[in-house]
Amino acid sequence: MMPHQANVAGNIHGGEIIKLMDSTAYATARRYARTNVVTARVDEVEFHLPIFIGDLVICTAQVVYVGNSSMEIVVIVEVEDLETEGKKRALTAFFTMIALDKKGRPTKVPELTLETEEEKRAFEEGRLRYERHKHKK
Ligand SMILES: CC(C)(COP(=O)(O)OP(=O)(O)OC[C@H]1O[C@@H](n2cnc3c(N)ncnc32)[C@H](O)[C@@H]1OP(=O)(O)O)[C@@H](O)C(=O)NCCC(=O)NCCS
Repeated sequence: MMPHQANVAGNIHGGEIIKLMDSTAYATARRYARTNVVTARVDEVEFHLPIFIGDLVICTAQVVYVGNSSMEIVVIVEVEDLETEGKKRALTAFFTMIALDKKGRPTKVPELTLETEEEKRAFEEGRLRYERHKHKK
């Protein structure tokens, strides 16, 4: 993290990290769907720890739920102080990305293969959030 990404106290702006998370969710969904994708929703953004100038930030993501054209991606940001050992979880969020066809209309995405118990649990949690959004709409 660089000085231009921080406030005067040296804390990195939340928006800088959200942008990184959105780009990571985009790449993950784009690779999964093999079509253009857009962000429709972000749920449960949590800032667990502050991030400072000079920290190394590692952003990872995984598809946890798929509907018809929607994909829910969990994005995890870890922060590493390069002067000490170990990484700590700094942020988490769930991004809902929608696959679009060449005409910009929502299009079907592949089924998600679930192997581990953790993946099955994450899928069920994603399904609950998906149904809540549908219900509200
Ligand atoms: C996302 C978008 C394509 C959805 O269009 P729409 O006409 O509402 O499409 P539909 O009603 O057919 O829904 C398509 C899918 O999107 C999901 N969806 C739409 N709005 C959603 C929302 N606010 N939250 C979560 N999911 C949403 C639907 O549940 C549906 O999922 P499914 O196919 O898996 O069942 C449209 O709202 C859009 O283009 N938004 C702007 C996206 C954008 O530009 N993002 C960049 C950041 S500014």
